[in-house]
Amino acid sequence: MEFPELRMRRLRRSASLRSMVRETRLDPSGFILPLFVRPGRGERREISSMPGNFQLSVDEITKEAAEAHARGVGGIILFGIPETKDATGSSSFSDDGVVQRAVRAVKETSPDLVVITDVCLCEYTDHGHCGVIEDGDVANDPTLELLARQAVSHARAGADMVAPSDMMDGRVAAIRDALDQEDYPNTPILSYAAKYASGFYGPFREAAESTPQFGDRRSYQMDPANTREALREMALDVAEGADIIMVKPAMPYLDIIHAARQEFSLPVAAYQVSGEFSMIVAAVERGWLDRRTVVLESLTSIRRAGAGIILTYFAVEAAEYLQG
Ligand code: PBG
Repeated sequence: MEFPELRMRRLRRSASLRSMVRETRLDPSGFILPLFVRPGRGERREISSMPGNFQLSVDEITKEAAEAHARGVGGIILFGIPETKDATGSSSFSDDGVVQRAVRAVKETSPDLVVITDVCLCEYTDHGHCGVIEDGDVANDPTLELLARQAVSHARAGADMVAPSDMMDGRVAAIRDALDQEDYPNTPILSYAAKYASGFYGPFREAAESTPQFGDRRSYQMDPANTREALREMALDVAEGADIIMVKPAMPYLDIIHAARQEFSLPVAAYQVSGEFSMIVAAVERGWLDRRTVVLESLTSIRRAGAGIILTYFAVEAAEYLQG
């Protein structure tokens, strides 16, 4: 059949028809809100390059988490801004660290909210790299043990899931082994499996105070030009025991999300990163884009590409739009 017998516009004529034939739906239970936890009490320091996002003390985190939960957001992921930094990021695995304290507090106030922790060293090292430095580069194998200690300490604090974002080789297996040995066989690993060396992390590095003090992250994060390499990275993480694989960033890498969805049968997550958030917000502030429309459209595109789980700074806002 062809035009004029076939008319595609027939099914677009009313909101109820459009809704009936809609192929992709957003559900806040698949959203994860990233939160930045810092020391202190009553602290809410706005991140200038991410308007509406704050470095929060533990007491403020519990409020934010409760609001997210009330809106139907599925979970939060916590990033720490520690009191002290050193060469090995040792504050990252202290049972009294900021993230560990925040996990305990949120699990007490919002027990049903899924609390995920980012496992990485860059926020905790004085040089800002995601591992320990040897001969001017990040040393892979010595970093694994530190990541494993951090993950175990998050699990001990009550984290529902750990999410390694460092891109060291072998870290999923190292973390899985450590969790199993320490009696946390039921703590799942959400691995940042295909994490690209992206310019879109700029605002996050202000938020987490984790800008590398020398060089960049290209010796461990992936080249934005590569698809086949992403498939190898994801396959390795699956083999090492990842429970969920993530692609990051999201919008510039929708093809990678789609490939992940086609290739693997485990859940696929995508991270709509700080720069993706900030560029939308900046254009909205200038009156160039309509906020609600583009927030929902950007999330729909990520969902349509194949991510069932979306880490997004718009989590609470989008949940509100979807409710209303
Ligand atoms: C830490 C980490 C980063 C992000 C998440 N975990 C930054 C980086 O790799 O430099 C970025 C998140 C965002 O931009 O929103 N390794």
